[in-house]
Amino acid sequence: MSDAERLDQQQADDQGYSRRSFIKGVIATGASVSAASYVLKNGAVVRAQAPGAVERLVTLSVNGLLRRVDVLPQETLATTLRYKLGLTGTKIGCDRSECGACTVLIDGVPHYGCSMLTHQVRGRAVQTIEGLEAADGTLHPVQQAVVDEQGFQCAFCMPGFVMNMVALVDENPNPTRKEAAHFLSGNLCRCADYNKILNVALRAAEYTRRG
Ligand code: FES
Repeated sequence: MSDAERLDQQQADDQGYSRRSFIKGVIATGASVSAASYVLKNGAVVRAQAPGAVERLVTLSVNGLLRRVDVLPQETLATTLRYKLGLTGTKIGCDRSECGACTVLIDGVPHYGCSMLTHQVRGRAVQTIEGLEAADGTLHPVQQAVVDEQGFQCAFCMPGFVMNMVALVDENPNPTRKEAAHFLSGNLCRCADYNKILNVALRAAEYTRRG
């Protein structure tokens, strides 16, 4: 970061702009570039679009709804979900296929949203953590297990774990602790709260078996 950028950031901090308000600002602009291309300058969200990049209007199926959105060729699914569609339950941690915070289901299969281009999911069913709760407010068994086990500390990684657990209990509703650990090995928790997270997974499986 240059001195000028540091100064701008400091000014933004001094004026009380939060990370959350920054994200809201990005969504409000309707801009369509990667997260890394957004900057906050004196309180305004500014985009630094790659030269020659052209947006294209696409229709996505997200949580059972058809969503139309302008997407750049290089835009990742995680970016589109968070910054275009306002589905900020999907987190971006490493942004390079290492942490699993961005895990979403595509046709029921867990994928890293940071490592898929949005154009790749056209015609496929995307599910995020916002789409788990039933219409009547009933929590998904995995969500209920999180509540009952209090399984996370900071919980930044939680949505990614939850989406992977949904795939786990769907594929194997009676996993051993070792099988659950193996299935969830693509998700990292920097609080290292793995014992409690595995408790959640097994409790979620139990709830799933009970129906
Ligand atoms: Fe996608 Fe870390 S943010 S794997």
